[in-house]
Amino acid sequence: MPGRTKPLLATLNGRNQAIKPIWLMRQAGRYLPEYRRLRAAKGGFLELVYNPDSAAEITLQPIRRFGFDGAILFSDILIVPHALGQDLAFETGEGPRLSPPLADFDLAALTPVPERLSPIYRTVEKVKAALPPETTFLGFAGSPWTVATYMVAGQGSKEQADARRLAYRDPARFSKIIGAIADTTVDYLSGQIEAGVEAVQLFDSWAGSLSPTQFERWVIAPTAQIVSRLRDRHPHVPVIGFPKGAGGKLGAYARETGITAIGLDETVDPLWAARELPDGLPVQGNLDPLALIAGGEALASAARRILSAFEGRPHVFNLGHGILPDTPIAHVEQLLELVRQ
Ligand code: CP3
Repeated sequence: MPGRTKPLLATLNGRNQAIKPIWLMRQAGRYLPEYRRLRAAKGGFLELVYNPDSAAEITLQPIRRFGFDGAILFSDILIVPHALGQDLAFETGEGPRLSPPLADFDLAALTPVPERLSPIYRTVEKVKAALPPETTFLGFAGSPWTVATYMVAGQGSKEQADARRLAYRDPARFSKIIGAIADTTVDYLSGQIEAGVEAVQLFDSWAGSLSPTQFERWVIAPTAQIVSRLRDRHPHVPVIGFPKGAGGKLGAYARETGITAIGLDETVDPLWAARELPDGLPVQGNLDPLALIAGGEALASAARRILSAFEGRPHVFNLGHGILPDTPIAHVEQLLELVRQ
C-alpha cells in the first residue's frame, strides 16, 4: 500500500495524519534562485516546460531544498489550449498570449495538435524515477472554465468579462469550447496518471467570477464530468478541486462534483470550512501567500489558526493561492518547521 508511506496521498484518501502533509502551489518557480538560474540559462518558460530534462529538474528543485510532501509537475494550465491548436506565447512581464482568441474566431478554426502533450508525459516519467518514496507526485490541469477564460480573451482578462459575455450571449458556442477543453483535459490527466502521477489537481483560478447559475453550468457540471470520466479510467486516483473564490458555493461544489478533496483559498475561514463542508472530506489550504511573505509572528499565528481548525479532518497544508515570486526562502523554512513541529 503506497498510501501508508506517503502522508499526502494517505490524507487525500481520507486518512487524517497527526503531522499534516504540506506542499505549496507554484512551489516550482520564480521565488527559487535555482529556478531563476535555469530559466536564464535555457531561455523562455515554454522552452522549460517542453524540455523534459529541464521540467523534471524544476519539479524536483523544491523537493530537494525543502522536502515537501508533494511534488507538483512543472507545466502550465495553458498547455491544453496549445494542444487544442491555439498559438501560445509567454511575454516576459505581460503574461500569456493565445491566438486566435475565441471571442473572435470559432473553435472550428483551430487544428488540434495533441502531440504537444507528449513531452509532459516524458517529464512525468523522469520525475517519477527520481522522486523520494515518501513524496506524492501530483499532476494537474486547469478547469474548463478557467482555461476557457484565457482561450476566449486570448490573454488574462479583468473579471473574465469576454468569456462571461460569450457564455450568456451564445451558450451553445461556449458549451462547445468547454466540452473540447474537458475532453482534452480527461485525456491529458489520464496521460499524466499513466506516466506516473498519483493524484491530480484541477485549478479553477477564476471560479469566483461566476453568478450562481453560471457556476453550476460552467464550473460544477464540467468538473463533475471530468471527475466521473477520470474515475472510469483510474478509479483510485484522488482528484483535488480548487475553485478559487467560490466562497458560499464551496458546499455545492464539494457535494456535486465528486472531487476527492477540496482546495480552499485564503478568503475562506477555516473554522467555517471545518464546520460546513461534508464530514471527512479532505481539505487543502489555505494560508494567505502574503502572510508567508510577512513571516514571523504574523505567519505563525495564521498557520496555527488553520492547523487547529482542521485538526480533526484530513488536511493538506498549503497556501490559498500560488507562492509569490518575492517570498523569502527563510519564511518557507519557518513554515515547514511550524507545520512539522
Ligand atoms: O505549481 C507549480 O509549481 C507547478 C507549475 C505551475 C505553473 N503554473 C508554472 C508557471 C502551475 C500549477 C501553474 C498553474 C497556472 N498557470 C494557473 C492556475 C493557478 C494560478 O496561479 O491561478 C494559471 C492561471 C496559469 C496561467 C499562467 N501561467 C499565467 C497567467 C502566467 C503568467 C503570470 C505568472 O505567474 O508568471 C503563467 C506563467 C507561469 N506558470 C510561470 C510558472 C513558474 C512563470 C514563468 C516565468 O516567468 O518563469
